Amino acid sequence: MTVTQYLADWRPYPFRIARTRLEFDLAPRATRVRSRIEFQRIGPGDLALDGAGLKTLSLAIDDQPLDLGLLPAEGGQLVIPAADLPERFTFAAEVEIDPEANTALEGLYLSGGMFCTQCEAEGFRHITWYPDRPDVMAPFEVAIRSDQPVLLSNGNPVAAGPGEAVWHDPWPKPAYLFALVAGDLRAISDRFTTLSGRSVALNVWVRPGDEPRAGYALESLVRAMRWDEQAYGREYDLDVFNIVAVDDFNMGAMENKGLNIFNSKLVLATAETATDGDYERIEGVIGHEYFHNWTGNRITCRDWFQLSLKEGLTVFRDQQFTGAMRSAAVKRIQDVQTLRARQFREDAGPLAHPPRPDSYQEINNFYTATVYEKGAEVIGMLKRLVGDDLYRKTLDLYFDRHDGQACTIEDWIKVFEDTSGRDLTQFKRWYTDAGTPRLTMAEDWRDGTLTLTFRQETAPTPGQPEKPPRVIPIALGLIGPNGDEVLPTTVLEMTEAEQSFRFQGLGARPVVSLLRGFSAPVTVAREIGVDQQALLLAHDTDACARWQAGHDLALDALVGRARGTEAGAEFGRAIAGVLDDAETDPAFAALCLSLPGEEEIATTLAAQGEIPDPDAIHAGREALARDIAAAHEPALARLCDAMADPGPYRPDAEGSGRRSLRLACLALLNRLDAGARAEALFDAAGNMTERQGALECLIAAGRDTRALADFAQRFGENRLVMDKWFMVQPLRAAPDRAVARARDLAARPDFDWKNPNRFRALIGGLAANHAAFHAADGSGYDFVAEWLMRLDPVNPQTTARMTTAFETMPRYDAGRRAHARAALQRIAALQGLSRNTREMVTRILA
Ligand code: ARG
Ligand code: ZN
Repeated sequence: MTVTQYLADWRPYPFRIARTRLEFDLAPRATRVRSRIEFQRIGPGDLALDGAGLKTLSLAIDDQPLDLGLLPAEGGQLVIPAADLPERFTFAAEVEIDPEANTALEGLYLSGGMFCTQCEAEGFRHITWYPDRPDVMAPFEVAIRSDQPVLLSNGNPVAAGPGEAVWHDPWPKPAYLFALVAGDLRAISDRFTTLSGRSVALNVWVRPGDEPRAGYALESLVRAMRWDEQAYGREYDLDVFNIVAVDDFNMGAMENKGLNIFNSKLVLATAETATDGDYERIEGVIGHEYFHNWTGNRITCRDWFQLSLKEGLTVFRDQQFTGAMRSAAVKRIQDVQTLRARQFREDAGPLAHPPRPDSYQEINNFYTATVYEKGAEVIGMLKRLVGDDLYRKTLDLYFDRHDGQACTIEDWIKVFEDTSGRDLTQFKRWYTDAGTPRLTMAEDWRDGTLTLTFRQETAPTPGQPEKPPRVIPIALGLIGPNGDEVLPTTVLEMTEAEQSFRFQGLGARPVVSLLRGFSAPVTVAREIGVDQQALLLAHDTDACARWQAGHDLALDALVGRARGTEAGAEFGRAIAGVLDDAETDPAFAALCLSLPGEEEIATTLAAQGEIPDPDAIHAGREALARDIAAAHEPALARLCDAMADPGPYRPDAEGSGRRSLRLACLALLNRLDAGARAEALFDAAGNMTERQGALECLIAAGRDTRALADFAQRFGENRLVMDKWFMVQPLRAAPDRAVARARDLAARPDFDWKNPNRFRALIGGLAANHAAFHAADGSGYDFVAEWLMRLDPVNPQTTARMTTAFETMPRYDAGRRAHARAALQRIAALQGLSRNTREMVTRILA
């Protein structure tokens, strides 16, 4: 039976918790959990407690045993009638759980012999009976007994002896922020003195031997703590901050109060084992989880429909942080690319939902690009509308007013209304309405006056047929025909379906530099000639708009090639300019030289009303890349050499920018020399960025046998590095060979598919190879579906998340659609299919 949860059904919990005390006797197959929860009535109603998969040994109210006949038949809530309860009472329970059997990695589980937890969203109910909802907050005291050498929980340590530790977390928190870790761990440590002079012990805990790989994470933490003080005035609030790396983890990381738990791939890095991208993600996610201490923990969510309240804001904050630590312009362009690739894709398909959904079956299915990344864009728009100073004042008010509370999107909007005096009723649609608005711009030029007429339209999404107009901040500038900026960035506020804006007194007709800084999450349709695009690419003062101009030229060429034309001459000429100028900003040049991917070409064709042909897209993109490489070979080769690493590896913006340009040139040259340069770079590589980049080229060129063996030989013992090996093969193999290759890899004994990283590497790698996954014979769909069916009984969360590979299925031809539907129907028909996967498959098939 599937139950749908509705936002409209939220009711306040009738009790407050003064204190939660937990005692754990850890054992892999039979862990005992004793709880004492001090309740106090604050409203009418029964006591409802959540529990799942618990073996309940005893229950008591004020030490009077309760009849176990009260327990729900199978799962669900334990309800104690109001009539049986005094005003204040202590509920006590003793339960037994089996961490070793917990392959879903939700609640208390074992990862490589280490006990750890993941409680967000609803994992705590797998640990003991509790009001497992984010608006019930309590201080926790936790005693852990175990023979594991290191025993950790939230808050500050109050006692530690052999085999036992006690932790106290004074900050009231919901159960989803609870965490416990017990294992043979080593820390690398530092201290941090906060703005007000409080000294905090910092530890990053890893397996013995991994200490030399944890330094970057620790340094990133220090940078994040300092930045949050400077940018938001937020200080840390406990004596210790612990981070633990675990190998088996469903998502990236988790912000448990004072005890962040991380997927080890977001902690461990050395130049030899991690790429520049890995380093950047580590810094970003360490920041993200740390920033949650205020946006998520001190101020949490009233219910899970408000998830974007903490996630959208915390993503926005981590994006600002990365921008401040590295190149703000490059970071913004990367974020725009990710948003389009993941969120626009979601918004355009059967899984579209607003940043604040109003119903769900399984909340874990809503940790999405829409809730996270679009949620962050919505905050960026608010900031742009009120300005930087007022944004900071508004956040101060938010922290002041709501510290210690469980809040809603309405609370968040209200602080902006109160500081700015604006009415944000219409703006709120960004939170409640799904779909990406399409912004059309028409130009009229006469007598020195440029009139821009904008129209906005949003296609219907599931459950939302009508889309009233939204507030769209349109940042633009004007570039004169000689390349000078004649109007600096100006923000237009569009509120209607159609609206015109006039710019007078212009000497010559300028080119509009539109949607600067990507000021709103919309798609843009405008008439623009290739000469104007080239002018923007050469002269725009806004990096985002400048990159966009080049990107649009590339996309037009690729779309033309997919249609079988010889398009691309203009793009080729534009590339010459990019190459000439490349050394002034290598990272930017690399972004311009990296051709849009096949998925994006398919999206562009679909947006123009065509059915994308994955094979034609692939062939057309290869042909264009070859032509570009042939036309610019000397310049590409010269740059590729000029960008060789001069000194010791540093994963900073400058070093990674040079390496990204080097690899972008290499990827193009690879089409001419069949892997010759890539092979040389692979052998000479002094870091994983180059080694992996070269390996990907070798796989694409079909010249990979020796390199793959060498790589496995070198890194066979390193799980995280071998995940890369499993990922790049299905991802970069020629489409007609990729599925067979993925099948061979899946048959290997070291394809440890119960590990989410390894599963995502291989199955996700194939799903991301556009022409292979969408093979006309359905073999890509079949392969992925087979593995999803295998994983579902073991790990529903990871399975459900990966069904999104199929979300673009409706846009392909009837033959492909039929194969994809058949694959999804086989999943749907599986006996005992999880609620997680059932919800996803049902929505995709609808
Ligand atoms: N709050 C975590 C983060 O974004 C995500 C944890 C979600 N986990 C889950 N199983 N739904 O940092
Ligand atoms: Zn988060």
